[in-house]
Amino acid sequence: MNPYDILVFNTPEEAAKAIAQLISNRINEKQNSLSPFNLAISGGKTPQTLFNILANDFAEKIPWHQLRLFWVDERCVPPTHPESNFGMTNETLLKKVPLPKKNVFRMKGEAFPEEEAIRYQSLLTKELPSKNGIPVFDLILLGMGNDGHTASIFPKDINLIDSHLSVAVTQHPDTGQKRITLTGPVLKQADEIIFFVTGASKATILKEIVLNEPSAKKYPAFHIYSAEGKTSFYLDKEAAALLPKELPLL
Ligand code: 6PG
Repeated sequence: MNPYDILVFNTPEEAAKAIAQLISNRINEKQNSLSPFNLAISGGKTPQTLFNILANDFAEKIPWHQLRLFWVDERCVPPTHPESNFGMTNETLLKKVPLPKKNVFRMKGEAFPEEEAIRYQSLLTKELPSKNGIPVFDLILLGMGNDGHTASIFPKDINLIDSHLSVAVTQHPDTGQKRITLTGPVLKQADEIIFFVTGASKATILKEIVLNEPSAKKYPAFHIYSAEGKTSFYLDKEAAALLPKELPLL
């Protein structure tokens, strides 16, 4: 049985709209609750469309005070650097919506990475509910790289799928750029995980993962799913091109 929900859309924009609607629904469902909605987001290119849609079409629909925003990973650069995940989110989303500053928990890419990983781990322990001693997010938004990495867990870091740490430091295999990343246990403890993956360059790896092929074991993304909740893949038709045709196009 396929453990994932797979949703295939014509375009990345349509997939992003569906994710924006889901995030809005989930936050609204918590509106009358005392607990906030704790969301961890990824960086990279794919979520930029989503952040633009949230800023332009959902600014009035989301009770922003109810949301608390965390990061799945950060590149070790200052927030003003073009590669900063926080910087990108700040430009596309945070500058445009009334999310209180106190609800934004960024990873400090400009700090000493090993110290920042320890600080962020303590922050998660303090700010989030926990289960089995592991912090629990309501929702985690993940991407997938062309080498099957997710968050900043690269194939060479597969040992971070199981780790006693919640936050670790890794290095991009090609550029050597240091990264701060959530590890497998905290990702898998989330109530819900959404992978947002688009483009033809991801199609082969995606097929291996979704069809549970033996070759997929080397990809960190293969090992990440919500242990007790729901995991969904939101795809455009290019990323989904090699999946079985019976999957309906939304
Ligand atoms: C990052 C990420 C990373 C990303 C994938 C996909 O900081 O790079 O969080 O895990 O989600 O690399 O990136 P693209 O969306 O740019 O393809």
